Amino acid sequence: MKAATFVGALPEPETQPQPTPFVEMRKVWKRFGGVVALRNVDFAVWPGEVVGLVGDNGAGKSTLIKTLAGDLQPSAGEIYVNSQQVHFRHPRDAKAMGIETIYQDLALCDNLDVVDNVFLGREVCYKGFLGILNRRLMYQETVDLLQRLGISIPAVEQAAVNLSGGQRQATALARVAKVGARLIILDEPTAALGVRETQIVLELIRRFKSQGIALIVISHEMRDIFDVTDRIVVLKQGNVVANKVTSETTEEEIVHLIIWGRA
Ligand SMILES: Nc1ncnc2c1ncn2[C@@H]1O[C@H](COP(=O)(O)OP(=O)(O)OP(=O)(O)O)[C@@H](O)[C@H]1O
Ligand SMILES: [Mg+2]
Repeated sequence: MKAATFVGALPEPETQPQPTPFVEMRKVWKRFGGVVALRNVDFAVWPGEVVGLVGDNGAGKSTLIKTLAGDLQPSAGEIYVNSQQVHFRHPRDAKAMGIETIYQDLALCDNLDVVDNVFLGREVCYKGFLGILNRRLMYQETVDLLQRLGISIPAVEQAAVNLSGGQRQATALARVAKVGARLIILDEPTAALGVRETQIVLELIRRFKSQGIALIVISHEMRDIFDVTDRIVVLKQGNVVANKVTSETTEEEIVHLIIWGRA
């Protein structure tokens, strides 16, 4: 896979619908002892598409994304990336294919500053001076990246613990942009955010989409789901009970499906 260094280096917006999904699950089951968390799940996301994943507590949303992210292995069924079957044993296997997940509370290291969070695990050292970090380069790249993404963080030297919720999400998104993610999975990205901060995160999602990146957004917030997604998949007790084009459904219908599992 070709990994771009910066979001600015990613391909132009997709003009043609892609013939094959970026990622696809076929007949996936996940059992935890006697609990069936996923039942025969078919699920797919195309490049440049934002899919909303909704369902009540315990419906299987986190299990589904953890299975895609290599955190969990399916009990049965198949997963494909760009039409190739994959067997993720570890999150790094999924990351190597461009699949990045932003979990709500694990997104940043609180004691590190914004620069270090953006570069976490991929720090830049001076050429020839193994182990000496090139802080100035990392600082400048972080400022440039945030600017390109339209993210406003006044001081990138401040520890992440001081950031607002929206700035935290934005920093986490900047980090995945930097590794050239092809699928970004967001678990409750706007939970507990204010109105303006929510708008910043939704705008970032639109930008990634316009660059051909696929996104899965888990949210209980129907307004955000309807604002930003192209398609909505409803899970109930581990079953996919609906798969709707967002512009062809309503909040009432989706809420009804979440509760009753049928129209
Ligand atoms: N590690 C685990 N061990 C045992 N059971 C689990 C495990 N993880 C999830 N489950 C069970 O699988 C089912 C689906 O859980 P999951 O966390 O995927 O739901 P969810 O849709 O993400 O819910 P929420 O909206 O509350 O986050 C639940 O019944 C849950 O108790
Ligand atoms: Mg969950």
